[in-house]
Amino acid sequence: MNDFMHSTDRTGSPRSDALTLRKPVSEDGAAIWDLVRACKPLDENSVYCNLLQCDHFRDTCVVAEKDGEVVGWISGYIVPNEDTLFVWQVAVGEKARGLGLAGKMLDEIMEREECIDVDRMKTTITEDNDASWALFRKFARRHGGELTDDPHYHEDDHFGGRHDTEHMVTITLPEPLAAAA
Ligand SMILES: CC(C)(COP(=O)(O)OP(=O)(O)OC[C@H]1O[C@@H](n2cnc3c(N)ncnc32)[C@H](O)[C@@H]1OP(=O)(O)O)[C@@H](O)C(=O)NCCC(=O)NCCS
Repeated sequence: MNDFMHSTDRTGSPRSDALTLRKPVSEDGAAIWDLVRACKPLDENSVYCNLLQCDHFRDTCVVAEKDGEVVGWISGYIVPNEDTLFVWQVAVGEKARGLGLAGKMLDEIMEREECIDVDRMKTTITEDNDASWALFRKFARRHGGELTDDPHYHEDDHFGGRHDTEHMVTITLPEPLAAAA
């Protein structure tokens, strides 16, 4: 567990505005579903999908909690047979935006023991999602990584015209963050 941003007062007691980053538990599934729903333009999955992410993929997912409320979430998994973290969704509630929380959550996952060999991050982004491009470009810059992108899941071939083309973004790091930590 990782306390973030003014987590204790001068006496060392936890402050009520403390933001905590932690691995999810299955009971978080419904609150995560609510948060994702409030974070347009993210796709909505089922509560059951969020529950399984929390249960089976908790080592590569993170929840940010403030005053008992889930205010941030990243779902991700290690791509089979690759030293790559695939970031599925990033959600930060409106009240918690602009504080660097999304970047902190990416770091939190990559610095875990479970990511000790992970030196690459992948995600997909639609062309018009400025916030998402800014987030991943900044992550690459901060860690000296190289970012490349290509149209990958196409509007017509993959989504039957129902979704904009998703670009596959690949960030190659000089070394795993977990190994450097
Ligand atoms: C994208 C999102 C996760 C960013 O969360 P956040 O905690 O506010 O992000 P950070 O504070 O870590 O900001 C990272 C960078 O993105 C930039 N950024 C954030 N929102 C932005 C926006 N709407 N437009 C352009 N840049 C933006 C920040 O300025 C920062 O870059 P800088 O420090 O160089 O200025 C949040 O806005 C969100 O949940 N949006 C809705 C869902 C979504 O689009 N998710 C991403 C797709 S997976």
